[in-house]
Amino acid sequence: MKHLLSLETLSRPDMEHILAATGPMKKERGCHAFLPLAGKFWALLFSKSSTRTRVSFEVGIRELGGQVLFLNSSEIQLGRGEPIMDTARVLGRMLDGAVIRTYAQHDVEEFAQFSAIPTVNALTDQEHPCQILTDIYTYEEKRGPIAGKRVVFVGDGGCNVPVSWMFAAAKLDFELRLATPKKFQPSPELLRRAGGKIICTEDIRGAAHGADLLYTDVWVSMGKESESAERRRELAGYQINQTLVKLAKPDALVMHCLPAYRGMEIDEATFEANAETIFDQAANRLHCQKAILHWLVS
Ligand code: CP
Ligand code: NVA
Repeated sequence: MKHLLSLETLSRPDMEHILAATGPMKKERGCHAFLPLAGKFWALLFSKSSTRTRVSFEVGIRELGGQVLFLNSSEIQLGRGEPIMDTARVLGRMLDGAVIRTYAQHDVEEFAQFSAIPTVNALTDQEHPCQILTDIYTYEEKRGPIAGKRVVFVGDGGCNVPVSWMFAAAKLDFELRLATPKKFQPSPELLRRAGGKIICTEDIRGAAHGADLLYTDVWVSMGKESESAERRRELAGYQINQTLVKLAKPDALVMHCLPAYRGMEIDEATFEANAETIFDQAANRLHCQKAILHWLVS
């Protein structure tokens, strides 16, 4: 039984397989010779908001021949306290796969264990594996292999997106620099688990120097809303803007997982100057996740 629960637990060959399968999925959209989810029922079980992840999985499952149910966790008994392990044992007996967006990483792992159906992490507080696989595919689609390149993440270095970038870095041999205040830097334990070449620094300008990819994410992740004011104060300055872009390589890409908050983690002019890349990146979620789904059931 395969799952995609994190990039920490995804092997390098499996990561490379998914990345290699994304291009053909994109090319064959609308004319797939084989529908690996034909006759299958998949559920999306979400406890947090979503635009891209929800729509790309709903469309992707259908395009691969499957049927999809969207379950908002607050509208099923889970929201009234039914344990995950019981929910998983019920859904596992009725469904063929599950895509879960929630808070605790442990909850996705418990669901996978008790449901015994392929389970995908569609974002937890800890990781966002589907996003970072897509981001790497998008970088390579536009610039070639990411191995040996310098990826610079600017902003909240402790949230799900940079953590998944950390677990990809060693496996795909690129350098990762996290430009983030001390308080938002990943723990030494997390850095040890990730391995590879990861530099954490408060020096945003130094970090951006020679970047092949400048990347950012929101300052206030879902679930952290009560810290909004504090985060805006503490992360002020950790922004991708025109001045920072000048320090990167001339052909550097600027990417954002979206949603974007202009004037915070990225300025309006830089966002719009790189909108084509950023929206290609968003569109590639569909193709990469179809590659993930196919990999899971084969
Ligand atoms: N990037 C991303 O996961 O977007 P959504 O929250 O809209 O799914
Ligand atoms: N770090 C962000 C990612 C949104 C796609 C969050 O968790 O809200």
